[in-house]
Amino acid sequence: MVSERTGKIKPSLTLEITAKAKKMKAEGISVIGFGAGEPDFNTPDYINAAAKKAIDIGFTKYTAASGMPELKKAVCAKFLKDNGLTYQPDDILVSSGAKSSLYHAICAIVNPGDEVILPSPYWLTYPELISLADGITVYVKCEKETGYKMTAEQFEKAITPKTKCVIINSPNNPTGAVYTEEELKSLAKVAEKYGLYVISDEIYEKLVYGGEKHYSIALASDYMKEHTVVVNGVSKSYSMTGWRIGYFAAPRDITKAASSMQSHTSSNPCSISQYASVEALTSPESEKFISSMQKTFDERRKFMVDFLKRIDGVVCAEPKGAFYVFADVSAFYGKSFNGAVVSDSLSFAEQALKKGVAVVPGAAFGDDRCIRLSYAISLADIEEGLERLKSYIKELR
Ligand SMILES: Cc1ncc(COP(=O)(O)O)c(C=O)c1O
Repeated sequence: MVSERTGKIKPSLTLEITAKAKKMKAEGISVIGFGAGEPDFNTPDYINAAAKKAIDIGFTKYTAASGMPELKKAVCAKFLKDNGLTYQPDDILVSSGAKSSLYHAICAIVNPGDEVILPSPYWLTYPELISLADGITVYVKCEKETGYKMTAEQFEKAITPKTKCVIINSPNNPTGAVYTEEELKSLAKVAEKYGLYVISDEIYEKLVYGGEKHYSIALASDYMKEHTVVVNGVSKSYSMTGWRIGYFAAPRDITKAASSMQSHTSSNPCSISQYASVEALTSPESEKFISSMQKTFDERRKFMVDFLKRIDGVVCAEPKGAFYVFADVSAFYGKSFNGAVVSDSLSFAEQALKKGVAVVPGAAFGDDRCIRLSYAISLADIEEGLERLKSYIKELR
């Protein structure tokens, strides 16, 4: 019998649909997948070259468990340059992906029974990590009308004597919402008033559009700097999802506790990937790479939003960041496709698969009215996939 702790972890709905789509593809059926959670670009050559060099010079042994000093220095320089935040290398923990950074941060902050406030829709991993730390997730439902962002009033209302921290994810997966500086400052005031910690997941920082600016809540006040864990990584910004390098900057006691934990659970993240990440964070070529990726995503984003808005009954708020569109398709619930009733986001997605298009049910992210479509696939595939989605919707009776 498995432990209660692991037994309560929910299997991922995202993976279920992706697995079905993969199986269909393997059977020779054409499926356009809108499930992608990673940029569809190759890791740039200059980063690959650094990794090859790491192997050639024998940089293939253990590093410091919390990350190699050169990478921590590069991370500090990044925080100063991009976010205006001053950190010392001892404030940094480098982990095997931002997901791992988040887990360590949550474990370092949350005691059993502590409440963690999570604006919903949310990235589906957060509640599982909170639950693994024996914390309790308190969801705050955010609506299209507020751009799927939690207001200061909503935040304050959700606080109880058990609240320990709040998770902010901007730019957001799945909604693409980007909080403004003002919005974050008003959330910061509430956090300070109640003495809370903030875990700020900024992994999509570099992917913002339409003049939108990324702002880190850690910059909002001295209190925030001392109570925020800023999580980031190289996965999305440099198309390095497989390299597994994430990092956070945090108050020193949290970094220390999380580093001790990591020293026993996984030790250092891959030395070769760390070496390559120094190159990613410091090379002058990175700016060009990011800006060209951002431009491509922006074109696809506009195309997708324009297309979806022209389908009667589909409602979507314009995403300002990341690479997802979160579209409300609840107007079609209650209709049938070839006799099968579409009653929620999961059945909507299951029936859509029969038309050769894979979307992720919003239920996975806490909003059953919606589906998530990733534009981390080619424009040609986006167009074909949206045509299929449109004709599927037309056939709903
Ligand atoms: C919001 C968010 N945070 C963190 C991650 C994890 O990033 P990493 O691949 O570095 O673990 C993801 C990946 O999909 C994400 O969407």
